[in-house]
Amino acid sequence: MDVHVVRHPLVEDVLAALRDRRTSSDVFRQLARRVSLLLVAEATRDLPLAESAIDTPLETTTVRRLAARVVAVPVLRAGLGMLDGFLELVPQAQVGYFGLERDETTAVARRYYEKVPKDLGGAVVFLLDPMLATGGSAAMAIEGLAELGARSVRLLSIVAAPEGIALLRSVVPDASVYTAAIDRGLNDRKFILPGLGDFGDRLFGT
Ligand code: PRP
Ligand code: URA
Repeated sequence: MDVHVVRHPLVEDVLAALRDRRTSSDVFRQLARRVSLLLVAEATRDLPLAESAIDTPLETTTVRRLAARVVAVPVLRAGLGMLDGFLELVPQAQVGYFGLERDETTAVARRYYEKVPKDLGGAVVFLLDPMLATGGSAAMAIEGLAELGARSVRLLSIVAAPEGIALLRSVVPDASVYTAAIDRGLNDRKFILPGLGDFGDRLFGT
């Protein structure tokens, strides 16, 4: 499984503010969107282009336009914080949703909702989930997308734990991961350390 850590001074700077417990939800939302833009730019670097001819005001020229069908699938709730940034850069993307929730005591994910576009096989599918902790949620979503026809899924995460990456490597080796950081590990409640806390709660102020 390919793992890409997106290294960029702007990514570091946004991460610093996201990690800060004093950051309020309204600012957290803006930061989530900003770091997502940087991740999306990296994760779409190899998308195919097709040539066509257009007329500039001065002459006819050949241009290259995006030739991939792109599907973005945010994992509810926290992945919603990455969707605006994704759609800003890829406005033609179709959007599906996966609802997953970790049990608060066992940290095991439960699937409660899904709605995705048809014919995932012909699309490049981006799963948006900012926290890759045990990897249980991402594995469940990627396996679910594969059952629905997706051929290879790119996970965009903001903070990942080594445990989550190891799980994905073993269960969904064809997936790829783009993340802003790989942190130290998980605590006994399966939260990422140093991490940034509960992303969904911080995003939505719950
Ligand atoms: C968070 C996060 C991931 C999951 C990661 O969601 O958004 O989906 O935990 O943990 P894992 O790798 O151990 O599965 P959560 O279940 O807290 O739901 P929420 O987004 O609704 O807060
Ligand atoms: N989900 C979060 O929001 N944060 C973590 O650290 C782990 C799972």
